[in-house]
Amino acid sequence: MEPASILTIQGADEAYPVVIQPGALAEALPAFVGERRFSRVAVISNTIVGPLYGEALAARLPDAFLITVPDGEAHKTLGTATALYGELLAGGCDRSSLVIALGGGVIGDLAGFVAATFMRGVALIQAPTSLLAMVDASLGGKVGVDLPQGKNLVGAFKDPLAVFADSAALHTLPPVERRCGLAEVLKAGLIADPPLVERLLASEPPPIEDVIARAVRVKKQAVEQDRLERGTRAYLNLGHTFAHAIEGVSGYAWKHGEAVALGLVAAARLSVQRGLAAPDLAATVEQAVTALGLPARYAGLDPAALWDAMRHDKKFRGGSARFVLLRATGDPCVADDVPRDAVIAVLESLREGP
Ligand SMILES: NC(=O)c1ccc[n+]([C@@H]2O[C@H](COP(=O)([O-])OP(=O)(O)OC[C@H]3O[C@@H](n4cnc5c(N)ncnc54)[C@H](O)[C@@H]3O)[C@@H](O)[C@H]2O)c1
Ligand SMILES: [Zn+2]
Repeated sequence: MEPASILTIQGADEAYPVVIQPGALAEALPAFVGERRFSRVAVISNTIVGPLYGEALAARLPDAFLITVPDGEAHKTLGTATALYGELLAGGCDRSSLVIALGGGVIGDLAGFVAATFMRGVALIQAPTSLLAMVDASLGGKVGVDLPQGKNLVGAFKDPLAVFADSAALHTLPPVERRCGLAEVLKAGLIADPPLVERLLASEPPPIEDVIARAVRVKKQAVEQDRLERGTRAYLNLGHTFAHAIEGVSGYAWKHGEAVALGLVAAARLSVQRGLAAPDLAATVEQAVTALGLPARYAGLDPAALWDAMRHDKKFRGGSARFVLLRATGDPCVADDVPRDAVIAVLESLREGP
């Protein structure tokens, strides 16, 4: 068995382990479940990840069955949740059953939400298979679904019993999804781990397990300090106010990670423009984003429309423009009352073509 990197995150009631290990789906996860008693085990996955890893996982677990839902954010809805409740009932699940969320962040949020609400809550294990889900979505207990009016508008806090990140599963992850995960890793480094940023860009990048573990540590610290997201957890939103606007205004043509990458560049420029950071910060962030194969420019979107979208972002309080910015790498801060002109100027500077 490959050596595991195990971190522990303090949840609302109990601490839970985050196991980062190639092969965790075949060994560590079944061993963990085998030590506990559940009436039924429902592995919830999608039509991509289910055939790759879900059937083999369910076969290794006692009293387990696999449920697959269609792939994609479009299915992270109450409608899919309702269908899942029905499948859980049909499969004989009750209050002492276990749900395993096996997939990217969409499955983590959806299956996590179902676990939080089915029979007022059943046990949950997060088994993230995308890099983004390993370093971000599977951690911290936020679960939920989208509404037609916007993303993640219905949800809950639901800590898992454990998180198993099988890095070997990343071999089948499409390259663009890997880059999207790296955008969140870069974000973590910029917030709280400057050496991680350097390592990401080194000519010989470190093993992916090390990268995941360092990013997990950053999220762990933010989540533990601020479980209900009233203060420092907001730092995890670095680049995200811009990102959500880009995603929304483009009609979700932009992937989240790619929008985050652009958002990191925008946040760095805004930090310099507000006099918080030295100019080389913006250059550093832009170089990192470009080196990781992520976009640092956009085209075809109207800066005024992006500003309007930001004002509807739920991270805005009392209508004032609030951004997570950087004084330097590893030194985030929250800036209140950033004026429209400043944001528009940054957006104009990153716009290419029409
Ligand atoms: N709860 C949180 O704190 C939190 C944080 C960040 C993001 N999220 C949510 O996470 C979602 C985005 O997650 P994502 O980027 O993982 O998207 P995703 O779940 O759509 O996964 C991306 C794609 O990769 C596929 N995939 C996943 N693992 C694979 C593997 N090992 N091999 C082959 N294909 C694989 C998926 O089926 C999908 O097609 C969004 O819904 C977002 O709101 C939640
Ligand atoms: Zn994100």
